[in-house]
Amino acid sequence: AAPLRVGLIGFGCVGQGLYDILRQRPGFGAEIRRIAVKNPGKPRSLPVEAFSFQADELLHDPELDVLVEVIDDAREAFRLVSTALRQGRRVVTANKAMVAQHLPELIALEREFGGTLLYEAAVCGSIPVIRTLDAYFGQEPLRSVSGIVNGSSNYVLTRMGQDASEYAVALVEAQQQGFAETDPTLDMAAFDPRSKAVILAAHAYGALLQPEQVLNLGIENVSATDIAYAAVAGQKIKVVAGLYLLPDQQLTVLVTPQLVDPTSPLYAVDDEFNGVVIEAEFAGPQFLRGRGAGGHPTGSAVLADLAALRANQRYAYAKLAQPELTYTTDLEIEIY
Ligand code: HSE
Repeated sequence: AAPLRVGLIGFGCVGQGLYDILRQRPGFGAEIRRIAVKNPGKPRSLPVEAFSFQADELLHDPELDVLVEVIDDAREAFRLVSTALRQGRRVVTANKAMVAQHLPELIALEREFGGTLLYEAAVCGSIPVIRTLDAYFGQEPLRSVSGIVNGSSNYVLTRMGQDASEYAVALVEAQQQGFAETDPTLDMAAFDPRSKAVILAAHAYGALLQPEQVLNLGIENVSATDIAYAAVAGQKIKVVAGLYLLPDQQLTVLVTPQLVDPTSPLYAVDDEFNGVVIEAEFAGPQFLRGRGAGGHPTGSAVLADLAALRANQRYAYAKLAQPELTYTTDLEIEIY
């Protein structure tokens, strides 16, 4: 088959990661034909001629089979992706905030105009968690999905625990390594993992939540002393995104720092790694762990979406029709 002709919008950490992976995998069957960036004059790893296109030109270019949107700005990302879907195009995005804010609308556009949107890179970077949850559809109910889904805050917590590094110092390290969002408050105050929890809720439970419905508490108030106290008790403090199906088909979704003990697989998920435990009715607990941020890991998730598009795969949104599922915030939890 002819290679997929890809239009790439954005050449930051993820865009460069994908570019680099495809360069190393010439036989994969996808070629980046055009790249659009906001600021073509900025010094980059490719000659300036590579960036001679506007994002809007790519949207209408009949020579492209797939658009890959990997820009930072959620509002602009939504404009681009929704315009592309209105033309029935195939689109891959990594923008978790955009997907979390607009999922119902994006699904409606997909259905109305026959395009496809995939976003594996938006949650847990390299971990194929959306695909895994989709595979459960129709098979068996999930009791819970709980995970460490933000690499930057996990990195900061890990560093603070190792040598009592200060919060600010650890945060600068996370930024230097390219894990953190442009506005690191999104990571530290758990807005980023909240977006990811919203996306997980759609794929695990068919629940379409607004991000504002999900409680998010971050790590700004967690001190090195708290972490040391937890360690004395044999525990670690981790920011856990938890989705719990309660009796009566009630669903609770929240993102908070929690004490995690060594019996949980999440205990060993340190540094910028992400991990997700899926508790299925019959299968029991399953655990996925991998890199949740960074150019190559996130680029590899985009690559997986390109392969899925080639195979004409789409998400199993059919499970969105779960009328008895209600959302509750009435879970009594102890927040540390
Ligand atoms: N800032 C995000 C994180 C990047 O730290 O997990 C990956 O979504």
